Amino acid sequence: MKPSFLFLLSWMCLCVVSSLANSGHQLIPEENLLVLTVATKETDGFGRFLRSAKYYNYTVKVLGRGEKWRGGDYMSAPGGGQKLRLLKAALLDIKSEHQIILFIDSYDVVFASGPKELLRKFQQAKHKVVFSSESLIWPDRHLEDKYPHVREGNRFLGSGGFIGYIPSIKEMIANWTQGDSDSDQLFFTKIYIDPAKRITLNITLDSKCRLFQNLHGALDEVVLKFEDGRVRARNVQYDTLPVVLHGNGPTKLQMNYLGNYIPNSWTFETGCTICHENLHPLSSLKESEYPLVMIGIFIQQPTPFVTVFFERLLKLQYPQNRLKIFIYNHEPHHEHQVNSFLQDHGSMYKDVKYIQPKEEMDGAAARDFAFDMCRKDKECDYFFNLEIEVVLKNENTLKILTEQNLPIVAPMITRGGRLWSNFWGALSADGYYARSEDYVDIVQGRRVGLWNVPYVSSVYLVNASLLRTELTDYKLFTSQSFDSDMAFCHSVRNKGIFMYVNNLHTFGRMLSTENYKMEHLHNDLWQIFENPVDWQERYIHENYTRMMKDKLIENPCPDVYWFPVFTDLACNHLVEEMEHFGRWSGGGNVDTRIQGGYENVPTIDIHMNQINFEKEWHKFLLEYVAPITEKMFPGYYTKAQFELAFVVRYKPDEQPSLRPHHDASTFTINIALNQVGTDYQGGGCRFLRYDCSIQAPRKGWALMHPGRLTHYHEGLPTTAGVRYIAVTFVDP
Ligand SMILES: *[C@@H]1O[C@H](CO)[C@@H](O)[C@H](O)[C@H]1NC(C)=O
Ligand SMILES: *[C@@H]1O[C@H](CO)[C@@H](O)[C@H](O)[C@H]1NC(C)=O
Ligand SMILES: *[C@@H]1O[C@H](CO)[C@@H](O)[C@H](O)[C@H]1NC(C)=O
Ligand SMILES: *[C@@H]1O[C@H](CO)[C@@H](O)[C@H](O)[C@H]1NC(C)=O
Ligand SMILES: *[C@@H]1O[C@H](CO)[C@@H](O)[C@H](O)[C@H]1NC(C)=O
Repeated sequence: MKPSFLFLLSWMCLCVVSSLANSGHQLIPEENLLVLTVATKETDGFGRFLRSAKYYNYTVKVLGRGEKWRGGDYMSAPGGGQKLRLLKAALLDIKSEHQIILFIDSYDVVFASGPKELLRKFQQAKHKVVFSSESLIWPDRHLEDKYPHVREGNRFLGSGGFIGYIPSIKEMIANWTQGDSDSDQLFFTKIYIDPAKRITLNITLDSKCRLFQNLHGALDEVVLKFEDGRVRARNVQYDTLPVVLHGNGPTKLQMNYLGNYIPNSWTFETGCTICHENLHPLSSLKESEYPLVMIGIFIQQPTPFVTVFFERLLKLQYPQNRLKIFIYNHEPHHEHQVNSFLQDHGSMYKDVKYIQPKEEMDGAAARDFAFDMCRKDKECDYFFNLEIEVVLKNENTLKILTEQNLPIVAPMITRGGRLWSNFWGALSADGYYARSEDYVDIVQGRRVGLWNVPYVSSVYLVNASLLRTELTDYKLFTSQSFDSDMAFCHSVRNKGIFMYVNNLHTFGRMLSTENYKMEHLHNDLWQIFENPVDWQERYIHENYTRMMKDKLIENPCPDVYWFPVFTDLACNHLVEEMEHFGRWSGGGNVDTRIQGGYENVPTIDIHMNQINFEKEWHKFLLEYVAPITEKMFPGYYTKAQFELAFVVRYKPDEQPSLRPHHDASTFTINIALNQVGTDYQGGGCRFLRYDCSIQAPRKGWALMHPGRLTHYHEGLPTTAGVRYIAVTFVDP
């Protein structure tokens, strides 16, 4: 990420000499401060550092740009000699005696306040050089006894940050002649523990973290402090507000956490202040210039509502000729859904690749393969990872994410109102899930913004140039010790690449794939318990809720209520399921399926329990019928119990009608499952006492009427086609 600003002022002319600067009580002018840092690469952490420096108007000079980093792995930074070589060379050019140098790391450093506070605290330290302190001794613990004792505060020196007058610093590093991978920390330590040198050079440690906070060994001491639209990190041990925060050693993730807030990136008063920085608006582009996105769809296990997934994919607001589709399907059960999507719509996309179940590729290998396709495809600007269980409700997701212009960004999705989501706020010591302090607030939307997190999964967008620069390992997902998502995030973290989760918008949710059985024709019908929201969207009539709320329930005959409850699809699925099952009763009086074995008014039907649907049907009645019963028959509370719930088939040459009868119920629910005029002719229901008929039954609508005494009724003849109804005798 190239910073869009340039501030590498010619720092030599900044050396405005202030004769008052050293007199003790006079403040050092901010112009005298120069921040030096070594960065051979423009990592995401470096970008964050520059942003914080710019926010507080620090003057920064970056050393070593474009140089190959030889100071060891920057994630663990054992070496650092290279930094000293570069510093030493840079200092030769600075002539002013009054220049104050702040030398710090940058990949894992953020400023929490400005130069003024830093200089004031430096002056208060009353030394010529002030080093950051640590509670842990490193790299040579045998030197412990040589360290001067401190009454309170950290005893050991940290080389990741120091500030001082230029002559002292020059003198301090004058003797550096070691190699690039030797330890700078050891070098400074040896100077510091030598009493003579310490005194001559006038060096001290910032033991109470007034200037510098090294996080290693101090995680419990540092908390966020929000006040008046500002946020700081507070060291609770010493009650200080450090100016420079350093995620040294294995504390990069804690630094990322703090960096989500500091410098004032998110506060309670302002919300997110960085969310609209560096955007790449698509509005300025023609559709043909949109970044090309490869969408990788992964079907790893039997999953409900796969058809709906593909319907949603088609509705994604993004030019289809700027999309390439990669589908990995490991599940034979879903082959027909993938095939029908590809047959009907595949040609609309710029390209399609399908890995079928018979190829027997495992999930991690498929992901490696897909990412590599994008890596090698010069056109591929982004890879959009999309697991089949993701319910992407926001049609603009892809636009929103590409505009964000981030290395890796996931739209936050949650699982049906629970705390489960597709990101982790923190990581446990062994690399698994841990809950960050702000996790619940983010998941529940009390804090919205862009959050730098250690783990994202299920749905996320990757800037493909990363695959060609940093993430070049083919096996990003394959690992001995981790599952594929963890392996990927592990690689990403190790490269110092930032992963963000975006909860500025509502994006969608995650299906539960637990308890998904494949023993039926339309298995989604059985999902009312596991995925109730998706079930409702798929199967409950779009006007059901409104009709109920606005009391629009119709009343075609006395005490007969009529309301929409099922979608067309629900009706079709139920009928198809019954026909698929196929064991229609003979319509005789003898019926071994019921108690007593005798049916007075037999129909040709299949009972819900014959297809193992009675628990789901009961849940449906409780959720969608009971509230209406209670509204229409006030004072009557139903638990929606039933012994008989079934689908009836009327056919002219089989059983066209049903003679007048009472139902063995307190009230009856009768749902029309197909369309008069199209699927059949005739049909309907007549209530004899009122001589009132419902002759144009509406598909998906339910009739609700009392069962006995007053509502003696008959089924009117079906004269052509086949008519289906779903009948339940509630509270027999
Ligand atoms: C991906 O990241 C690279 C490097 O930061 C950047 O130059 C490029 O513009 C990004 N790609 C897109 C499509 O934004
Ligand atoms: C940084 O400088 C700009 C322009 O001189 C000024 O508007 C802004 O307030 C300064 N920021 C801080 C934090 O001092
Ligand atoms: C260290 O320097 C400060 C001024 O920067 C001075 O007041 C103090 O006496 C010096 N201490 C020693 C031990 O020289
Ligand atoms: C640098 O080396 C010289 C010569 O060995 C020595 O006198 C001096 O104390 C050293 N300076 C420091 C800061 O170590
Ligand atoms: C829902 O109600 C609206 C407005 O009355 C109507 O236009 C629409 O067709 C209804 N939807 C269905 C599926 O019947």
